[in-house]
Amino acid sequence: MIAASFALSIAAGLALGVVYWTGGQPQLEGLFLAIALGGIGTGMVAFAKAYLPEGIVAEPRGRVASTDEEVAAFTADFEQGRAPVRRRAVLVRLLLGAFAALGAALFFPIRSLGPRPGRGLFRTAFAGGVRLVTDDGHPIRPADVPVGGVLTVWPEGAVGAADAPTLLIRVEEPALFDSEVLAGGTVGGLVAYSKLCTHVGCPVGLYQETEHLLLCPCHQSTFDVLRAAQPVFGPATRRLPQLPIAVGPDGFLVAAGDYREPVGPGFWDRP
Ligand code: FES
Repeated sequence: MIAASFALSIAAGLALGVVYWTGGQPQLEGLFLAIALGGIGTGMVAFAKAYLPEGIVAEPRGRVASTDEEVAAFTADFEQGRAPVRRRAVLVRLLLGAFAALGAALFFPIRSLGPRPGRGLFRTAFAGGVRLVTDDGHPIRPADVPVGGVLTVWPEGAVGAADAPTLLIRVEEPALFDSEVLAGGTVGGLVAYSKLCTHVGCPVGLYQETEHLLLCPCHQSTFDVLRAAQPVFGPATRRLPQLPIAVGPDGFLVAAGDYREPVGPGFWDRP
């Protein structure tokens, strides 16, 4: 029974690995994990019942060293490989095998973390000279955005990219912007900010024209468009990154570079 329990645990551990590797199935994985752990537990309990002494055992304190006869008897037993010793060795190997099979399966979730992001979280498809386009891919001239208007734009060739939605906003006149916004790259009264909320990444979709405030509908974080999109209310603590913009030689709006800071919510190695 002990051997069967450990063998069953090994088989279940391997099966768990196979199911995970071939795409995963939560119910089956749970079943195999239960069998793997249950097999180890059942085997260890049965092992203890079979081989450990039962009841209270008292031994008078006596000498510690073995006599020559005892050493000789043990050596003879060991070298002859008596049945109990052989059986236990097999069982211990099976137990180690069960732990190994289950232990290997425990490494699999590392694969579920997916590929390393590398510098991907610090870059978007925007770069110097890349045209800003609408949802349907049309380039934009500065005059296309009226005063008080707000437009979602993308880098040309990457419409729909998860990290690239950008809000293009026109205010009445550029003098309203503070120096930080102007240094960040504006075109007249046009400014562009990432649309991804720096709290947990919802799209910042509401613009209060009279107050020049952007509002995130998820948890009401509010950003000041005239003050470099600094948060003025709500749980967000970082400003919306500003995209530097310019006018290209053909009169269409282009990015003057990528965002200078990562867009969206914080992550583990963000400076
Ligand atoms: S995601 Fe914008 S406030 Fe929470």
